[in-house]
Parts: sequence; C-alpha cells; structure tokens
Amino acid sequence: MAKYVGILTAGGDSPGLNAAIRGVGKAAHRAGYNVIGFRDGFRGFMENRTMRLDEQALSGILTTGGTILGTSRDKPHKMPIGGQTLDMTEAMVEVYHNHNLDVLICLGGGGTQKNAYRLHKQGLNIITLPKTIDNDVAMTDTTFGFDTALGIATEAIDRLHSTAHSHHRIIVVEIMGHNAGWLALGAGISGGADVILIPEIPYNIEIVAEAIRRRSRHGSRFSIVAVSEGALSLEEAAAFHKAQSSRENAKTDKAKAKAKKRLEKLEQQFNDSTFRISRQLEELTSLESRVTILGYVQRGGTPSSADRLLASRLGTACINFIEQDIYGVMVAARGDSAEAVPLEDVVGKRKTVPLDHPWIDCARRVGTSFGD
Ligand code: F6P
Repeated sequence: MAKYVGILTAGGDSPGLNAAIRGVGKAAHRAGYNVIGFRDGFRGFMENRTMRLDEQALSGILTTGGTILGTSRDKPHKMPIGGQTLDMTEAMVEVYHNHNLDVLICLGGGGTQKNAYRLHKQGLNIITLPKTIDNDVAMTDTTFGFDTALGIATEAIDRLHSTAHSHHRIIVVEIMGHNAGWLALGAGISGGADVILIPEIPYNIEIVAEAIRRRSRHGSRFSIVAVSEGALSLEEAAAFHKAQSSRENAKTDKAKAKAKKRLEKLEQQFNDSTFRISRQLEELTSLESRVTILGYVQRGGTPSSADRLLASRLGTACINFIEQDIYGVMVAARGDSAEAVPLEDVVGKRKTVPLDHPWIDCARRVGTSFGD
C-alpha cells in the first residue's frame, strides 16, 4: 500500500542535508510512496507549512548547501509563541494524523534526536538521520556535514600557515564543534596545527606557551593554535564540572534553576576564550598573536563527495526500513552499511573524543601539543 512519508530538517544546517532529502524523496517515489516536506523544522511542522517534494523539487539539489526545507532550533515541547513558551506536542500529533502520515523522518543532530524521540513516545512513527558538522551524535560512525566542515577548516589552517609564517606570528583559529573536539582535532591534524585545544582535554596555558617558545628556539617563529569553540582551561573545566554536578544533584526547582543560571553564566564567560588565549600567548611568548574565527563558513556551501555519498546512503536506507515497518530508530552509518539504532539508545548521549582515540595518539606522535 502507498505510504505517506513526511520529512523535516531541524537544528543548525549542515552540508549534505539536500543530498539526504533527495535520497529519501527519490527512493520513496520509486517505492510508490507519497512524500511531504515540512518547512523550518518542528515549528513549520506544527504550523503545517508544507512543501511539495516531487521529482522536480528534488532535481538539482544533490550538490547544494543548506536545506531546501529550511530549518529552526524550535523544540516541540518548548515552542516560543506570542511571548510564551508552550508545549505544542499535541498540535504536532494532530498534524501528523491530518496528513495520514505513516512515518515522519527527522534530519538533525543531538537535539533533533531528542525531540524526535519525544514525538515517537507520543505514538508517532519516527525515523531520524544523523547530521551535524560537530560529529557528536552517539551510536553512528559519523554524521553528514562533518567531512565538508573538516575540509573547510583544514583549508583555512593551510591558508593561515603562510601568513603566520611570513609575519612570525601566532594565529589562534577557532573551530566549531560545540562541546566536542572532533572538528578541531581532525582539522588540526590534517592542517598540521602546532597546538590543538579541545573540550575533552583541559589545557594549561603555560604548557601551550612553552610549546610555542620551544618552536621559536628551534627556528620556527610562528605557530598555529587550533582551538575548539568548547575548549576549556583547567580552571574553567573545574568550575564547569562543579556547576554541572550541582545541577545534576539539585533537589528543588529553585536549586535547579540557580544551577542552570550558573552554568549559563559560565558558558557566557567562556565565549570569548579564544581572544583571551591569544592575549595570554602574546604575553607569555612575546610573539604577536592574531585570532581567526571560522564561524558559519564551516557550515555553508557545497557538500564534499564523502558527505553527498553518506547522506544519499542514509537517506535511501530510510526507505528500506519503512518497507519493513521499522520505526523509532535512527539510521546510523556503520562501515559501508546503514543500521537502524533504537532512538532510546541515541538520545541524551553526546559522542565526544575518547582520550584514547587514535587521532589523539597520532597528533601527539607528530609533536602536537594539547596543552596538557
Ligand atoms: O551544531 C552545529 C553548530 O554549528 C555548532 O558547531 C555551533 O556551536 C552551533 O551549531 C551554532 O549554532 P547556531 O546556528 O544556533 O548559532
């Protein structure tokens, strides 16, 4: 029987989203299914804003960045509406049934997995795909968007080398990744950064400075410091973990709110740490230092071939699972295959870089400092 398949993209955009939409859509058409796109993530779904995803709409999008469906970070259970934050889960369940959907496919990162799982628990058939440049979704080898961002950040480090070298400067380059160091670590290794600072390894600025001074003594009077946006000094990490555990252990709502506020305040303080690292290194090494924030450049533009391939593979694999009525799962990348992983095994976990990960060993063996 022809099935009705809904699809939305949520969270930050990521290269490969359109390739995934195309993979889902084309495979669905070939299976004889009807496909309905929903605009701007869970908000557009709640507001029943749809987009036709016929063959024409799916044509020519494989190579394009962003998402033709649009996206938002709105959550079903905490939707800002008219100055209030409301739980709109029920409204979404209604939209699902009004369209006679057999399944809703949600493309997104860690937050989207959680939100999609919430809808699944309301009785909706849900399948998710793992996308994010941060590569921090649990239970999948990798996420689409990561490879493209890695390429962009690596090229940036390549370009920064020649200017750092010419001016005998330190260049501190901030790389995205939220609270995971995959992107900074991968690009740092591929681009040959001299120092890599990631959230998983709290740094001591003195040790970073000494690594740079050592390079100067050996004739290399420039250094590239790749800093993950979530990187923390030893002191910051201690304060952060303390605030985190008091939030986890808070018994009353008042205590919980206080601990949450403390965490947010700390996060704000850490926001400009890349500039602080640069100033500290200038003082400690007597070398001039400059900052480059790569920012949204890392998420924009055409996806790499690896991301197009991954997103197409996972998107089309979705239809295999729908044919078997397998729902409540994320379609994970496992080697060359795609595997259906129950959403309850994915949500609430963040895949950070394990301290014994081979990439860390590789970086250390070529002499990269982690400031530890
Ligand atoms: O999750 C992807 C990501 O690009 C992170 O690397 C970054 O911290 C965040 O999104 C930025 O979010 P926003 O698009 O909401 O500014």
